[in-house]
Amino acid sequence: MYDSFNRHINYIRVSVTDRCNLRCEYCMPAEGVSRMQHADILSFEEIVDVVRTAVNFGVNKVRLTGGEPLVRKGIISLVSMISQIEGIHDLGMTTNGQLLSEYAIALKKAGLHRVNISLDTMDEERYSRITRGGSLGKVVEGIDAAIGAGLEPVKINCVIKNTPSEPDAMLIKDFCEKKELELRYIREMDLENGEFYVVHGGTGGDCSRCNRLRLTANGMIKPCLFNDMEYNVRELGARESLQLALQNKPACGTVNLKGEFYNIGG
Ligand code: 5AD
Ligand code: SF4
Repeated sequence: MYDSFNRHINYIRVSVTDRCNLRCEYCMPAEGVSRMQHADILSFEEIVDVVRTAVNFGVNKVRLTGGEPLVRKGIISLVSMISQIEGIHDLGMTTNGQLLSEYAIALKKAGLHRVNISLDTMDEERYSRITRGGSLGKVVEGIDAAIGAGLEPVKINCVIKNTPSEPDAMLIKDFCEKKELELRYIREMDLENGEFYVVHGGTGGDCSRCNRLRLTANGMIKPCLFNDMEYNVRELGARESLQLALQNKPACGTVNLKGEFYNIGG
């Protein structure tokens, strides 16, 4: 499918929960966040309906995000339901890796192709501080489990303050080279103040080439991360909300005063 600026939209990012087992300082306030009501969270059937409709419109790439997708109860069943939709060539997940060593094999069996794992530092103490309590060892175990399970290519998302030459970012580069992992640097963004950047080594942030739509855990189709626009799939149905998002996808991002990374999924 093409939007009104003739961009080929073939990618949907699906946030399956707004919850997370970490509280990364650039993503969430320390005290946590006001959670979506349980009743507002889409069921697996509703998510599958949106994804299937998107695939009928020409989407062939799907990424599951959160919050942290692995904290959603039954996530393996959801992966398996989505992987059975015909026409998806690339089914990925973005995870913080804390639970990945437990889930990697089951995810692969359920039909997940690959994972992107968030990792900003190789220093245990700084990892725990940035994520407010996460375990670096668990992420590394998760990365090894993902490779072992064949969830490849494993990519690392590293959030940087300013430049890829800052010390933590360089240590991540060494780690990725040793393990032969692909690395993407994502400069810390501020949705509310309209500060967003092109992802080094990735596809995000380049408005003229943007190929994606988003589905939030409570059923909003968002044409752009850096814009407040959203279409409710429960009110409009999957078809209509996807079509409206496509027609109204802005040429370029500006600001987003409503959403945050933890509920849109980055
Ligand atoms: N700026 C850039 N990326 C962010 N993420 C979360 N918050 C931000 C932010 N403020 C991204 C991280 C993480 C993914 C889940 O979301 O890259 O890997
Ligand atoms: Fe959780 Fe990811 Fe946000 Fe960190 S960046 S708090 S792991 S959703």
